Amino acid sequence: MKRFSERILAVAAAALAAFSLTSCGNGTSGSGSASSAGGDSANKDKPVCWFNRQPSNSVTGELDVNALNFNDKTYYVGVDAEQGAELQGTMILDYIKAHESDIDRNGDGIVGYVLAIGDVGHNDSISRTRGVRKALGTAVEQNGEIDSAPVGTNTDGSAADVTDGTVDSLTIREIASTEMKNAAGATWDAATAGTSISNWASSFGDQIDLVISNNDGMGMAMFTAWSKDNHVPTFGYDANSDAVAAIAEGYTGTISQHADVQAYLTLRVLRNALDGADMDNGIGKADEAGNVLSSDVYRYSADERSYYALNEAVTVDNYQNFTDSSRVYDAASHQLDDNAHPTKRVWLDIYNAQDNFLSYTYLPLLQNYDDLLNLDVEYIAGDGQTEANTTNRLSDPSAYDAFAFNMVKTDNAASYTSLLSRD
Ligand code: BGC
Ligand code: CA
Repeated sequence: MKRFSERILAVAAAALAAFSLTSCGNGTSGSGSASSAGGDSANKDKPVCWFNRQPSNSVTGELDVNALNFNDKTYYVGVDAEQGAELQGTMILDYIKAHESDIDRNGDGIVGYVLAIGDVGHNDSISRTRGVRKALGTAVEQNGEIDSAPVGTNTDGSAADVTDGTVDSLTIREIASTEMKNAAGATWDAATAGTSISNWASSFGDQIDLVISNNDGMGMAMFTAWSKDNHVPTFGYDANSDAVAAIAEGYTGTISQHADVQAYLTLRVLRNALDGADMDNGIGKADEAGNVLSSDVYRYSADERSYYALNEAVTVDNYQNFTDSSRVYDAASHQLDDNAHPTKRVWLDIYNAQDNFLSYTYLPLLQNYDDLLNLDVEYIAGDGQTEANTTNRLSDPSAYDAFAFNMVKTDNAASYTSLLSRD
C-alpha cells in the first residue's frame, strides 16, 4: 500500500499529464493510448537515442560529435565494438590451436579462411575484421591502424591488405573476403553471403578450412549453404536464436553483444530523459521498481555520450544459456508505475527490415521493454538502402515525445536531426 504523500504525488503527476495532453492539443491520430503526444517541448529539445549505428564518419571512423550532442538529452547505445572484436578473434584462434592436427583439410600446411564483411563503413564491421586479422596474425597496419579492406581473392597469399600468419607449424591465410552488399545497396546482406560461399567453394573448395563472418545473418547463410554439410567450422557474431540453436549442429561459435542490455538502454535513456530523472536511474543504480544493470554488462563513456554493452563468447560449452535471444535481462524486467512514469510516445526506426540481428533479436526485445517502461513506441522498418525511406515517415515529429534512430549510414545523422530542428 502506498503512503499518503506518494499517492498525492501520483495523483498530481497524472493530472499534469492529462493537462499537457489537452493543453497542447496535438493528438496522436487514433492510437487510443493515454499518451502525451508530444507534450509542450520543442522538437529540438526532445530526447534522442541513436542506436546500433553510431554517428560517425564512415571513412575515418571519427565520431560525429554534433549528432551525439544534438541536445542535452541525446545519447548513443551500441556495443563495445573493440572488446567484442577481440573476443571473436581470440575465440577463433583458440579453436585453431585446439584443432591443429585436423583443421587443415587438404594438408597443404595452410589454414585458409574466408571472411564475410558486413559494411566497410560501419565501425562494428571494421572492428570485427580487424579483430580477426589481429588475432590470426594476418593483419597489416596502415598509418598505425589495421587495414580492414576486403581482399577479394588471395589464395596465393599475395594480397597487400593482409599478410600470412602462423600458429605453430601452420600458416594462416585469408584466402577470400568481400563486403556482403546486394545489388540494391543493402549491406550485411545474408543472401549475398550465401551466394559468395557457393562461388568460393566451387573455385577453391578444399582450401577453405574456416568460415568467419562479421555477423550471424551472413554466417548462418554460409553455414546452411555450404559449411554445415562440409563440416567446416563457422563463426559468426550476435548470438541470434537460430545461430545459437545451430551450435548443436556444428555452427562453431558466436558472440553475444548483449542485445538484451542494449534494447533496454535504448528505451531507458529516453524514459529517464522524459522523466527528468537522474540518467543513472535503472541503469547503474536501481530504480524504485528494482531495475538495474550489473557493471559487467555495459560501460558508459560520458565524453562520447555513449552506452556500450559488453560482449560474451558463445560456444558449445555455454550455448544453452543463450538459446532465447528475445529474453529480457532479468534484473531490468520490472514494470514501472504508470502514475510516476506516464505513457509517452516514441518514434523508432530500424534501418533495414531484413537485418537478422535488428529484426529478429533487437526488435522483439524492444517490444518486451516498451510495456515495462510505459512507452508507446511506433516502430518503423526501413529498406536498408536510403535514409529517406524512414525519414519520410517522420512527417510530424511533434506527435512524439522522444526518438530513437538507427541510420542506414553512420554519416547521415543530419537527415534525422534536421527534421527536429525545423520548429
Ligand atoms: C550487428 C549486425 C547488424 C548491424 C546492423 C551489428 O552490430 O552485429 O548483425 O547487421 O549491427 O547495423
Ligand atoms: Ca589447407
